[in-house]
Amino acid sequence: MQPTRRSFIKAAVATSSLALIGCQTQTTAKPAISAANSNPTIALNYNENALGLPPSVSRALAEALPQAFRYPDNAKSELIAAIADTHQLQAQQIIYGNGSSQILKIAVDTFASDDAQLVMPDPTFGVIIDYAMARNLPIKKVKIDAKLDTDIKQMQQQVTNHSGRSIVYLCNPNNPTGLVLQKQQLLSWLTQGSDKLKFIIDEAYAEYAQDPQFYSAIEQIKLNNPHVIVARTFSKLYAIAGLRVGYGIAHPQTISAMLAQASIDNANLAGCVAAKAALQDPTWVALSLRSNQQAAQIVTQTLDALGLEYLPCNANFIFHKINADTNTYQANMEQAGFLVGREFNHTNGWNRLSLGTPEQMLKFSQTLIKFRQQGLV
Ligand SMILES: Cc1ncc(COP(=O)(O)O)c(C=O)c1O
Repeated sequence: MQPTRRSFIKAAVATSSLALIGCQTQTTAKPAISAANSNPTIALNYNENALGLPPSVSRALAEALPQAFRYPDNAKSELIAAIADTHQLQAQQIIYGNGSSQILKIAVDTFASDDAQLVMPDPTFGVIIDYAMARNLPIKKVKIDAKLDTDIKQMQQQVTNHSGRSIVYLCNPNNPTGLVLQKQQLLSWLTQGSDKLKFIIDEAYAEYAQDPQFYSAIEQIKLNNPHVIVARTFSKLYAIAGLRVGYGIAHPQTISAMLAQASIDNANLAGCVAAKAALQDPTWVALSLRSNQQAAQIVTQTLDALGLEYLPCNANFIFHKINADTNTYQANMEQAGFLVGREFNHTNGWNRLSLGTPEQMLKFSQTLIKFRQQGLV
């Protein structure tokens, strides 16, 4: 490596250290212990929120738990009212989910029919495949395009080619790329929804999206579009993945149809109370966003210094090139104490890196630089 290049990388990491000074993160999350080696590992593979539980959530949980012998109906109604308030919606436009993955299942069950197919990008968040298979729906996976964007035109072609109904799954921003859909293209397709064309829009990372092209399909619900279901989660920005809280947003009639597919008591007291506390803690939400931005900045500075391409960050992860086979890189990183993302279809040579705390990302950056010195990336 050229000395100038090395000093550039050092400068990049030093700048990142300076950036850290302004950040008062509350790093309560304990590092996981890897089964493969006894080094403490830093989990950067499941897009969790590395800041740990918001203190306001811990307090709300401690206060509420003595009431856990009662059914959670009130807590669930209060949460739904708080979500409605946040989005300026009515409670009848919201359904609770045991995580947003349950919303995806309920959505598939609601829209499924004998002649329906599922059309989805590839790669994307894949659990919907299992739900579609359970309903015997044919699945059309549409490869992302050369720029790694969701290929809406090809997806539309798949809908046109099918004589029956179509359920379209779109993840916006997409996991694993973090890219957002183009507003006009999405909007005009959503308005074509009909009895034959239904949409499930997964917005698990919407709160992080900074790209001005980002368009939340919640707007369509406000316009009374009955053919769209939006899934949102408390597992990412709000940091309560283990408590399993997500929600669906749809037209009241669509919500009624969804409720018929949901199990009656899918909510739990702890999840409802925690989600409401997180939602109503703007200071912590701002901290969570700021920490994520700092973490992203540290990583992108290092990737720039190493000349490794990456996609714009609209989530709590970054999709970046590694100049190596993804599985090999993943194994090497695990040896070095970092769990990073797995290989996704059509994107070997890229890696999805969940953003930890800024401190964790500094350590990761130092390791990535070492990997470059060892010729591993
Ligand atoms: C795009 C996307 N949707 C949904 C989920 C599931 O989230 P939840 O924890 O709410 O079930 C994830 C989890 O990583 C995700 O990446």
